[in-house]
Amino acid sequence: MVTALKRKSPLLHGTAKPLFFVLCLLPLAWLVWGAVFDQLGANPAEALIRSLGDWTLRGLCLTLLITPLRVLSSQPALLRFRRMLGLFVFFYASLHLLAYSWLDMGLGLNDIWLDILKRPFILMGFSAWLLLLPLAATSFNRAIRWLGGKRWQLLHRLIYPLSLIGLAHFIWMRAGKNNFAEPAVYGAILAVLLGWRAYRAWAATRSSTTSPLKSRAMT
Ligand code: HEM
Repeated sequence: MVTALKRKSPLLHGTAKPLFFVLCLLPLAWLVWGAVFDQLGANPAEALIRSLGDWTLRGLCLTLLITPLRVLSSQPALLRFRRMLGLFVFFYASLHLLAYSWLDMGLGLNDIWLDILKRPFILMGFSAWLLLLPLAATSFNRAIRWLGGKRWQLLHRLIYPLSLIGLAHFIWMRAGKNNFAEPAVYGAILAVLLGWRAYRAWAATRSSTTSPLKSRAMT
């Protein structure tokens, strides 16, 4: 049975995970290439910070896409990639934070702290990054065993508020220029991904509360 599944889904092939790992590194490779060969435009520091922010948000959307894809395509093997993708989100968010701290703030801890407190959109981004910390720290098998499945799942639901805070960070940043086109696209994607989950949770509670009646009606 397992061998048959292995033959069926290319996602279970031994090279799938290493390939996916390389795929997740491509945005960074592209940015490094752009920085080395001076291809990041007139303001390379800004381009670097912004691109890393974009890839963090895209990564969050892709991580949230895995469960609906798994359910709709009946491909449980997709789950193998969710943890890696989540860790890459943390990786890109940390590079985004590092690029800002270094290129914008010259690594002055006091200035960074004051900026976080002064500019609400930076505070939002920093809060989203703080929420990513416990998720990254507990994404290993030993942490799952230590926390227990239920508590681990509950903790990892932090991805929902943190995605919305990440989006709010983006909206707030663009509000200064009255340019909401891109945040609106991410907002629509997140609304679908989170709405799908909310609908399933609602349908599950509804069917669990109505099922006793249903079974009584049937007997
Ligand atoms: C989950 C965490 C985060 C997400 C999803 C995120 C996402 C984004 C996005 C999408 C952008 C706009 C990129 C564009 O204009 O194309 C951005 C810009 C920016 N973010 Fe974040 N961010 C996060 C965390 C942080 C943190 C921790 C900081 C710093 C403490 C930060 C500071 C900035 C700065 C300085 C900019 C650029 C502002 C400018 O160029 O005017 N972000 N971020």
